[in-house]
Amino acid sequence: MRDLKGLILSGGKGTRLRPITHTSAKQLVPVANKPVLFYGIEAMAAAGIREVGIVIAPETGGEIRAAAGDGERFGVRITYIEQDAPLGLAHAVLTAEPFLERSPFVMYLGDNLLRDGITDLVDAFRAEEPDALILLTPVPDPHNYGVAELDGGGRIARLVEKPQHPQTNLALVGVYMFSPHIFEAARAIEPSGRGELEITDAIQQLVDRSLRVDPHVVQGWWKDTGQVEDMLEANRLILDDLAERVEGELVETRVEGRVAIAPGARLERATVRGPAVVGAGSVIRDAYVGPYTAIGEGVRIERCEIEHSIVLADSTVENLEGRIEASLIGRNVRVGRSPALPRAYRLVVGDNAEIAIL
Ligand code: TTP
Repeated sequence: MRDLKGLILSGGKGTRLRPITHTSAKQLVPVANKPVLFYGIEAMAAAGIREVGIVIAPETGGEIRAAAGDGERFGVRITYIEQDAPLGLAHAVLTAEPFLERSPFVMYLGDNLLRDGITDLVDAFRAEEPDALILLTPVPDPHNYGVAELDGGGRIARLVEKPQHPQTNLALVGVYMFSPHIFEAARAIEPSGRGELEITDAIQQLVDRSLRVDPHVVQGWWKDTGQVEDMLEANRLILDDLAERVEGELVETRVEGRVAIAPGARLERATVRGPAVVGAGSVIRDAYVGPYTAIGEGVRIERCEIEHSIVLADSTVENLEGRIEASLIGRNVRVGRSPALPRAYRLVVGDNAEIAIL
């Protein structure tokens, strides 16, 4: 088999993660203080893939390039591929054809996270050489996913997008392995009802042409971070495996459980109950940071309590009575109590934001 290439899809609209995605790519939102996208690049490198193409959108491509660079620090070589419009996953594959040439490849959705990486899957694909190999995972709510039906021999018989009456509970996970047959298949399909070239339709084409599509059931957890709740859940899952490492400065501060505090962070009269991470240059003062919280770089948390949340770089949260929980706070945000009268809520909030007040 020719050497495998990697393809990470990092374009798209990101509508479900607005307002964060008004100003930034969703694939760069940090989970446990590391951009989601980096987990995918690292998984590719760990599986022995050296040539990685990243599909980017015109609007957010620049910051993705700036963040991931030429790939050297991950041990891969990155080529950026601009997709003019988010016309679907199969459209992204066709856009990347000049980069992929006739190599078999692994396609990884840039907002997905797999606990156990992709090495086993890549090894199975290399060993078996099917025309495609797709990842499946049992889910409690298959009607929300692309669902696979298997034939008697355990191969893929049919894929159905968000079925009303699912025949199995096996949902498609955002990692796929393809031979170059996928290009003909993607060219043969029409846009779906939502106007996109769907990868499930292209895979169905492979099945219809009697090509071999193997399933591989994921053992560890898998998370699509397309929505806030999923992002928080992914943060929780990654923090569960956190290695303890306290390098910042602690003054009259209690740290319980597994906590990572980056160099240059300063904690004064604080309690941090892990698993939690605090980024470089952040200040936590007279505050409580509870389990499953990721505080980014240059953040200030003062006289308040926060847990099970993600706070992005350069934001401030201060002087609150109630505890903040299950929240995703963007970059350079200020949340706090103001002494000014009249006593009122004063908000400057971007489009599509969500605020719940006690
Ligand atoms: P989705 O999450 O399915 O789509 P989206 O990013 O448009 O998000 P939303 O539904 O919230 O509007 O996309 C999965 C991944 O694939 C994600 O990393 C974006 C990427 N993608 C592309 O690169 N090109 C595309 O045409 C599409 C649809 C997605």
